[in-house]
Amino acid sequence: MIRIAVMVSGHGRGSNLQAIIDACADGRIDGRVGVVVGTNAESPAMDRARDNGIPAVEVRPKAFDSDAQYASRLLQVFAEHNIDLVCLAGYMRILPSDVLAAYRWRVMNIHPALLPLFCGKGMYGEHVHQAAIDYGVKVSGCTVHFVDEEYDTGPIILQRVVPVEEGDTAVTLAARVLVEEHKAYPQAIQLFAQSRLKVEGRIVRVVVSN
Ligand code: GRF
Repeated sequence: MIRIAVMVSGHGRGSNLQAIIDACADGRIDGRVGVVVGTNAESPAMDRARDNGIPAVEVRPKAFDSDAQYASRLLQVFAEHNIDLVCLAGYMRILPSDVLAAYRWRVMNIHPALLPLFCGKGMYGEHVHQAAIDYGVKVSGCTVHFVDEEYDTGPIILQRVVPVEEGDTAVTLAARVLVEEHKAYPQAIQLFAQSRLKVEGRIVRVVVSN
């Protein structure tokens, strides 16, 4: 049974958080969400945490003088809640290097496109889906990956694909991708919980469970 921290940003809606909570509750993830860490206590995602009886801890990056101080507060919260895995779900920043070093290959993110496409700083929300439509790709999807020191570049754990359909808008494509996000994130977390993910360079091998 692993203990998971979910991190969300200011206006986080929290649908992936809810998918993770639900998957823990019905046994698809052998784990529990031990804490939700948000940059703003008032976001819908933080409400969802409270509604589910999960501690919602506000940690505002701007309240700290340095990245090192921000990192040490985050690590303190993770330690207090015995966290094994950190899941970013609508968290829009690069995590401080001290956190990544302490939790190397124990921090995941979900991106609403097939990496390495349509990613990087500023590529979030509907910008991602509009870019996919404007480029004319025929499929898109989502990617769960381990987090490294840059945006969206860490080793890929798994991807799920959806068609891009005639007449799609960023809104309709986002909705189709989101359905797959809610399957992909729990699947990736469960592979981690079963110790089945081995990172070799930038390749993630999924080992057969015994
Ligand atoms: C999702 O689209 C996810 O891919 C991206 O941020 C969004 C978060 O949505 N990283 P929600 O708050 O989980 O509903």
